[in-house]
Amino acid sequence: MGNIILTGDRPTGKLHLGHYVGSLRSRLKLQEEGNYDEMYVFIADVQALTDHAKNPEIIKASLREVALDYLSIGLDPNKVTFFIQSMVPELSELTIYYMNLVTLARLERNPTVKSEIKQKNFNNDIPVGFLNYPISQAADITAFGATIVPVGDDQLPMIEQAREIVRSFNHLYGETLVEPKALVPENKMLGRLPGLDGKAKMSKTLGNCIYLSDSSEEVKRKVMSMYTDPNHIKVEDPGNTKDNPVFLYLEAFVKDEHFKKYWDEYNNLDELKAHYERGGVGDMKVKKFLYQVIEEELEPIRKRRAFWETRIDEVYKILEEGTKKARKRASKTLKDVKKAMQINYFE
Ligand code: TRP
Repeated sequence: MGNIILTGDRPTGKLHLGHYVGSLRSRLKLQEEGNYDEMYVFIADVQALTDHAKNPEIIKASLREVALDYLSIGLDPNKVTFFIQSMVPELSELTIYYMNLVTLARLERNPTVKSEIKQKNFNNDIPVGFLNYPISQAADITAFGATIVPVGDDQLPMIEQAREIVRSFNHLYGETLVEPKALVPENKMLGRLPGLDGKAKMSKTLGNCIYLSDSSEEVKRKVMSMYTDPNHIKVEDPGNTKDNPVFLYLEAFVKDEHFKKYWDEYNNLDELKAHYERGGVGDMKVKKFLYQVIEEELEPIRKRRAFWETRIDEVYKILEEGTKKARKRASKTLKDVKKAMQINYFE
């Protein structure tokens, strides 16, 4: 059997540079390498509802934005199948069967679930659907026989839980499901972009993001007001580049060509860093450079977005076609699952 790549995003907001660096970019690379039989990228609206049940309007609006984000970064509907999770009801049915293979204690031990419960202040009022989402995620993955799941490292416990479900199922009912593998960004540092304010990550609630859909002016304003080294006050002061978000962003985006093009005083980032650390480089200059570097990445994305924004009907058509195809594939797995469980009574 070949490679089946599958991954998804919760539609709870527009996608930002953190998503881009952490996962979108590697999806593009996978698409371009073309070393797969099928690649699915889906919008996990069912999962988004597990902690946004009271705000379905956010999900609806974000679904449109995320679809536009996918197309504008260059994911190609001819190479990738896009679908909407809730429109593939087979996933919910699989979830129900898998629920019998997982204990409550095991779900409560899932580190990602644990930290999200804290972060969302659920306390003792954890919605059943929320606690259950790792099982539903296992259904998302196994329904398509996914072998490779590109995710950020916060998702590793989810993939581990899916693998356990596959093993229990196959053990109980016979070889039916495929065990997936996670694919995480090689370089951990590059896998996570801090917020504009220097906080550990970009997050919509913290308001410290650059969105893929931000205008050039917004990007400029955001970059120019970024947090840097607070002890680097005068230009001559020695500066710290280690937990300085401006330099962490440069690390994620800059190429030596950018120096040739915009700042030929240096050949590469190491030279700029060394000078900054010695003292003598002003933050404004570095930020202006960073802005130019980011713009080179975002400008083509913006152009494609403008194209698709005037063709929203087509965007939904793409989602609909992809969903049809996804449903076909998921139905096949559901059929196999029911057969293995001997609940295919009418066959
Ligand atoms: N949990 C993922 C996130 O929060 C989204 C997701 C849902 C997913 N189902 C998936 C990712 C299946 C990979 C595979 O971003």
